[in-house]
Amino acid sequence: MNGDEITRKGTKYLTFDSQEDVGVNPSSNPTLGDVLNERVGRRGLIGGMLASSALSALVGPVALFSAPAEAEAATPNAAPGAATPSFRFEEIAHGVDETHHVAPGHDVNVLIRWGDPVLPGAPAFDPMRQTAAAQAMQFGYNNDFNGFAPLPLGSKTADHGLLCTNHEYTDEEVMFPGLNGEQQKANFARMTKDLADIEIAAHGGSVVEIRKVKGKWTYDAASKYNRRITGETECRITGPAAGHPLMRTAADPTGTVVRGMLNNCAGGMTPWGTWLSAEENINGYFWGKMADDHKNAAAFKRYGIPGAWYNWGAYHDRFDVTKEANEANRFGWIVEIDPYNPTSAPRKRTALGRFKHEACNVVVMKNRTVVAYMGDDERFEYVYKFVAAKKYDPTNRAANLGILDEGTLYVGKFGADGSVTWLPLVQGQNGLTAEKGFPDQATVLINARMASDILGATKMDRPEDVEINLKKDTVYVVLTNNNKRKPEQVDAANPRAVNEWGQIVEITPNDGDHTATKATWKMLLRGGNPKDAKVGGQYHADTSANGWFACPDNVAVDNHGRLWVGTDQGENWAKASGTADGIWAVETDGELRGLSRMFYRNPVGAEICGPFFTPDDKALFISVQHPATDGVELYKPFGKLSTFEEPATRWPDFKPGMPPRPSVIVITKKDGGILGL
Ligand code: FEO
Ligand code: CA
Ligand code: CA
Repeated sequence: MNGDEITRKGTKYLTFDSQEDVGVNPSSNPTLGDVLNERVGRRGLIGGMLASSALSALVGPVALFSAPAEAEAATPNAAPGAATPSFRFEEIAHGVDETHHVAPGHDVNVLIRWGDPVLPGAPAFDPMRQTAAAQAMQFGYNNDFNGFAPLPLGSKTADHGLLCTNHEYTDEEVMFPGLNGEQQKANFARMTKDLADIEIAAHGGSVVEIRKVKGKWTYDAASKYNRRITGETECRITGPAAGHPLMRTAADPTGTVVRGMLNNCAGGMTPWGTWLSAEENINGYFWGKMADDHKNAAAFKRYGIPGAWYNWGAYHDRFDVTKEANEANRFGWIVEIDPYNPTSAPRKRTALGRFKHEACNVVVMKNRTVVAYMGDDERFEYVYKFVAAKKYDPTNRAANLGILDEGTLYVGKFGADGSVTWLPLVQGQNGLTAEKGFPDQATVLINARMASDILGATKMDRPEDVEINLKKDTVYVVLTNNNKRKPEQVDAANPRAVNEWGQIVEITPNDGDHTATKATWKMLLRGGNPKDAKVGGQYHADTSANGWFACPDNVAVDNHGRLWVGTDQGENWAKASGTADGIWAVETDGELRGLSRMFYRNPVGAEICGPFFTPDDKALFISVQHPATDGVELYKPFGKLSTFEEPATRWPDFKPGMPPRPSVIVITKKDGGILGL
């Protein structure tokens, strides 16, 4: 999901625009631009290309490659220190149409779509007769993160496993017939309790058993592992904030049990076989008029609550901030789910902090310390990491299931000298005191954004994915865009004002130690057209006219250590690049570093989410999210917002090969080999 509320529901949404500005970071942390302006002069920073040369000189002497890898592989086939092969495929062209495209020699197939039966007794998909009960047994809406958990547990099986998929949000205007457009714009005039309850059931996640038979991937609708997690599923709250007064509600005086997980965007899989699912834009589910004396007024303002994207609060008191003051504090967490145990309750791990979580990726050090990297996807928000207190035990899975409940959360400060400093979010330290509103560690974690403001963390251009390259011990921080950054706010890691194209920053921990509080960073690439000086995109010089992209979002590092970048331009695709979103393969090593090539292209109106490889790199799962929505009116041959307008011709397939519903697709190579080789 595009974390920018304005683009989710339309650029014409001016009331939203002002609401978004309430949600953005109002802290007075000096941006690095202040430092840089002193050192190179403001003029040099404003003009795109000019700025980049000045900055690269400043950021210069940072090692290109990390020391030999210290990290233990968190994915089965990763072999730290081995050479990364270059990509070998014929790239496809920029463009936009109603279907999808992949590099020659590869196949694309739909694996599962919104409404497909997941649980026993689930009815076949029928968009004209939807019910919440049916939806709770069917694959949910707007699939986002995908994880592959091999079967059996602990194996490296590459052709049989559990697909773990997030269902981030719902688009009522293309989900239900007869609404005649987005309901926010119409004061929810045509929404009913039945429709709201279908939406709640369409959120959350799915676990589905999948296998490759004779080269073709299919899912098993009768598997005992299959499960649906919805906005009503009982989840446990664990870690330092569990039971805190700010987490207690009328329905749950213990502050330890919450119904549902919401807006689960990206995520990660752990070496102990669990699925981490990141609750992102949770503000949108709450409504009600905030009084100045509301007990959470200041904190809710910092988090953009209530966002009122949905009217669930009309039917369920817990989503109305005036009726239940604390329910919103119980969303915005990393949720850990054991896909191998379909009756286990999802755990909201409060030690990892509360913000608009995009992703959570884990690395285990040789000394078995566990480190997780995370981003907060909103303009001017922060990058985080968590260092667990307890060590990973490869012989005791039960003990590993509690590792993420105890440890230290850090927020990143990106220096103009190429340094990264990780600042600990620990109550009592660095101004995180009761006088400043942090009487205990639980409050630091619940209001992690505000604690990070006090520490002076660096305000980034919307941190989407943060992925670890286990082969090289580097970390990619994917910054998608920030059209609100002003010229005086640019800094070394966020070097462009009105940044509509994003950039990828690469972190290298000192001595390969992800637990260290110091690291270095350098720019891998800057999105946008490299031939347009006003844009200032930066790639390897051999990148073709199809090889550049805008708005990097979710990325995958495969088991060979290669980087695959998915994009989400939202409604801005025509202006940002002119091409539909897609997957680009980006070289990260040696002389080819920064060379980018287009591998896959989405149908119009969809964004790329959840790229994830099987352990043999012979299958790539991708979520094609919200096809036929974002900016689709700009594509004349389709040119409308609702797929219900012409059900005979547009439903269920626009044309052969195009996923008309939110779908998980799988890309394989025709010869059964490794993708992109
Ligand atoms: Fe749900 Fe930040 O994308
Ligand atoms: Ca995303
Ligand atoms: Ca996004």
